[in-house]
Amino acid sequence: MRRAGAIAGACAIPGAIAGESGPVAATLDAGKLTRFVDRLPRIEIARPSGTRPDPANRAEKLPYYHMTMEEFEFRVHRDLEPARMWGFNGISPGPTIEARSGKGVLVEWANELPQRHLFTIDHNLMGAERDKPDVRSVVHLHGAKAPPESDGYPEAWYAAGKSAICHYPNRQDACTLWYHDHAMGINRLNIYAGLLGVYIVRDDAEDALGLPRGEREIPLVLCDRKFSVDGQLAYDVSPDPAAPWVPEFYGNATLVNGKLFPYLEVEPALYRFRVLNGSNAQFFNLSLSSGEPIAQIGTDQGLLPGPVRAKIVSLAPGERADLVVDFSGSGDEQVTLKIGPVEDIMQFRVARGSSKGGRLPERLQPVVRIPESAAVRTRLLTLNEYKSPKGESMTMLLGAAHWNMPVTETPALDTVEIWSLINLTEDVHPIHLHLVRFQILDRRSFDKLHYFLTGELRYIGAALPPDAGEAGWKDTVRAHPQMVTRIIARFEGYAGRYVWHCHILEHEDNEMMRPYEVLPART
Ligand code: C2O
Ligand code: CU
Ligand code: CU
Repeated sequence: MRRAGAIAGACAIPGAIAGESGPVAATLDAGKLTRFVDRLPRIEIARPSGTRPDPANRAEKLPYYHMTMEEFEFRVHRDLEPARMWGFNGISPGPTIEARSGKGVLVEWANELPQRHLFTIDHNLMGAERDKPDVRSVVHLHGAKAPPESDGYPEAWYAAGKSAICHYPNRQDACTLWYHDHAMGINRLNIYAGLLGVYIVRDDAEDALGLPRGEREIPLVLCDRKFSVDGQLAYDVSPDPAAPWVPEFYGNATLVNGKLFPYLEVEPALYRFRVLNGSNAQFFNLSLSSGEPIAQIGTDQGLLPGPVRAKIVSLAPGERADLVVDFSGSGDEQVTLKIGPVEDIMQFRVARGSSKGGRLPERLQPVVRIPESAAVRTRLLTLNEYKSPKGESMTMLLGAAHWNMPVTETPALDTVEIWSLINLTEDVHPIHLHLVRFQILDRRSFDKLHYFLTGELRYIGAALPPDAGEAGWKDTVRAHPQMVTRIIARFEGYAGRYVWHCHILEHEDNEMMRPYEVLPART
C-alpha cells in the first residue's frame, strides 16, 4: 500500500472543498497543535423517543430511536476554528445506541443534510453518476445480523428530506457494532464528513463478568483526518479534475471521539475501551507510552475466550478491539495512547491515590470453532487491482467482477462455507461481510506468478493461524498481499441480498464491493 506521501500527499490539492473555486486553503500541520488541551468527549447515549410495533410481531412494542443526519459546526481543537461536519443529532460520532441481545430496536435514520456536499464527488464512479443527487445517504449497521431491508443496501440511498426506518433484532452476542453511511460511490466522503457512530449490544453472559462499567467503560472512535489551516475538514483529490477519486486517503491527524489530542482523567483502576478504527484507509498499531501490555478482551463480534495481552494492538479500517487498560500502577502519572511508534493521539491523566482495584477475569466467553468439515462449499475469491499504464492504481475488484455483474456468491441459509480470499494485489485489504460473523482459519503464502499463468493455487508457505487477538468472532479480516486468507462462516439469520467489500473506503467506493445473496434454506 502506498502511503499518503506517495499518491495522495504528493499530488493532491490540499484542502480542496467542493464548489469552492479560487485558492484553496493549505493543509494544517496538525503535529504543531498543542497537545492534550481538550477533554475527551463522552459520546452521549441515544435515548429512544418512544415505542413502535415490532414489524415481526405487531403485538410487541420496540424502542424507537430517531437519528437525524445533519450538518453542524464543531471545534475539534481549542486552537482551531469550528469545523463544518456531518453527524447524527448534532454530533460526530453520533450518539451511541445501546441494545440488549435478543431485544430488537427500531431506528429511523432521517437525512436532513444540506443540498450541497462538503467534498468533491467523482461522478465517474459506479453509482455516483451525475443523475444522482450529490447528497444522499443510507445507514448500515456494521456487524449486525439484520434483515436485508434494514441492512442499508448501498443502492437504497435516499436524498435529503427523506428517511428510512430500520429494524435491528439484535439476535446476536454482546459486541461493539458501528453504524455508518453506505451510499454507493460516495460513502468514503459521507463517513469522512462524520456519518458514523457506535452501537453496543449487551448480554447477560457479559454482564456476569463484572467488566468495567459506567464511567470506566468508554468507546474510543479513531478517525484519521486532514484539516485546512482554517480548521475545516479536507479530503484529497487527484491531480486530474476530471477524475478526483484517490486510491487511498491518509490524514495527518487522528480524531478521538471527534477531538484532536484529547485528554481523559482516569482513576488508578481498570478501564474498558471499545476502540473502533473509523478511518477511510489508515491502519493503526495501538500502544501505550508506558510500554505496558494492553489486554484485548474482544474483537469485532464479541468477547475472546480470554484476555490477550500484547504491547501492540493492530486495527484495520472497520475493525474493533475491546481493550482493558489497568491504570492502577500509574497513579499520578500521564500515559499516552499511540497509533504508531511516535504518534501520540490522546493522554490519560491518572489520578493520585491507591488502586481502586478490579480484576479482569481470565475466562471470558468460549468461542467454539466451526469445524472445516462443516463447510458445504469453499469459494475461491480473488482480490484484484488494475493499474494504469503509468502504474497508478485504477480500481480494485473482488473476484475480478464489477458491482453490477450478476451475483455469484449465493450461500444457502444455515449452511457453512469457507471463503478463500486470494489477494493478488500488493495491499492489505480489510474484507468485511455483512450479516454474518466468521472465524479466520488461516493465512498462507502462494505463488502469485504461477497463479497468474495457470489459475492454480500453489502454496509456498505454511498455513499461519490467526493472531491471538483475531481468534474470536470477526466480521472484518485483513487479507494480506500474496496470501490466501481463509474464513469460515455460517450464513444464518436471514435470506436475501447483502454485500461484501473491502473496508478501505476508497476501494469500496470504486467497486471493491460485491452483492451476495443468501438463498432460502433448502428443505
Ligand atoms: Cu462497515 Cu459494509 O460496512
Ligand atoms: Cu457491515
Ligand atoms: Cu481494499
